[in-house]
Amino acid sequence: MDDMITLGSGHGADIRLSALGLGAWQWGDRMMWGYGSGYAAAEVRGAFEASLRAGINWVDTAEVYGMGKSERLLGQFVRESNADILTATKFFPMPWRLRRGALLDALRASLRRLNMQRVDLYQIHWPVPLVSIETWMEAMADAVSAGLTRAVGVSNFNLDQTRRAHAALARRGVALASNQVEYSLLQRGPERNGLLNACGEMGVTLIAYSPLAKGMLSGKYTPDNPPPGARRHLYPPARLVAAQPLVGLLREAGQVHGGKTPSQVALNWVICKGALPIPGAKNAAQAQDNAGALGWRLTADEVAGLDEASEAVS
Ligand SMILES: NC(=O)c1ccc[n+]([C@@H]2O[C@H](COP(=O)([O-])OP(=O)(O)OC[C@H]3O[C@@H](n4cnc5c(N)ncnc54)[C@H](OP(=O)(O)O)[C@@H]3O)[C@@H](O)[C@H]2O)c1
Repeated sequence: MDDMITLGSGHGADIRLSALGLGAWQWGDRMMWGYGSGYAAAEVRGAFEASLRAGINWVDTAEVYGMGKSERLLGQFVRESNADILTATKFFPMPWRLRRGALLDALRASLRRLNMQRVDLYQIHWPVPLVSIETWMEAMADAVSAGLTRAVGVSNFNLDQTRRAHAALARRGVALASNQVEYSLLQRGPERNGLLNACGEMGVTLIAYSPLAKGMLSGKYTPDNPPPGARRHLYPPARLVAAQPLVGLLREAGQVHGGKTPSQVALNWVICKGALPIPGAKNAAQAQDNAGALGWRLTADEVAGLDEASEAVS
């Protein structure tokens, strides 16, 4: 079973990634994830180390995660582990960032926090319309020319925006490697709006964020045990009730495959769809569990069954 993929079909930089990455929004973020209460640096280091041991070779972070803390922690873990780990980070087009050069300044600041000479993938976090996509893509191509990143991607871009980014980069001879969007059994927009197919045709890797629907697909949250904090608003009781049959099917499919957990089945479904999931993990146990999505595949019938069960709730 080949659990490695070539980012962006190998145009330009030949970057080989494990078919599952590790999301690092949780590392330092208090508002959504409650970093500092219940888990902190020691636990997220455990997530990093468990992922490495399981063969995961890349981490997704962003300058805004924990206001730089996530990048700093990742830089520290990579340095101390001496591991050959690939790094993806992101530029946020804040409203005061109006010049093309602002992107390179932000990338250099990320590199300082990461304590690295270059990253492997640099992504635009959101398509904020104050500056045109074409201008930011010029800046992304500058970042590649300057040797500050090996590949470039976008995030939260719709189909039209993805095509524009792809075309603008192509004019500079740079490939658009990826588009990172929300995609899971509870959010199937990328299938319905054609983005997943179009990315495949363009050779753009679709990176799936929130592939566990922020923990809902792990099966641990139920109408009687709702998620804490801000996630309560994203997944109110009615949505949790509606998702229970799907979670039941994840459990059943896991049993057929030798006791896989609902999280492992939900992540495997994303992989079967041709996307690259990046589950966030707060500790070693979660990271190890998620890595168990690798090394096997659901059958086409099982994928179709999960598709059907998710129709009403995604
Ligand atoms: N580009 C963007 O705009 C964007 C947006 C969102 C996320 N992302 C990226 O995508 C990554 C993943 O998305 P996400 O963090 O939103 O959601 P997710 O991966 O769907 O869910 C992560 C959360 O689920 C719970 N969890 C994870 N593994 C588990 C397991 N095996 N068993 C039980 N619970 C488990 C943990 O929270 P609890 O333990 O608290 O339940 C964890 O914090 C982020 O870290 C980030 O790198 C990018």
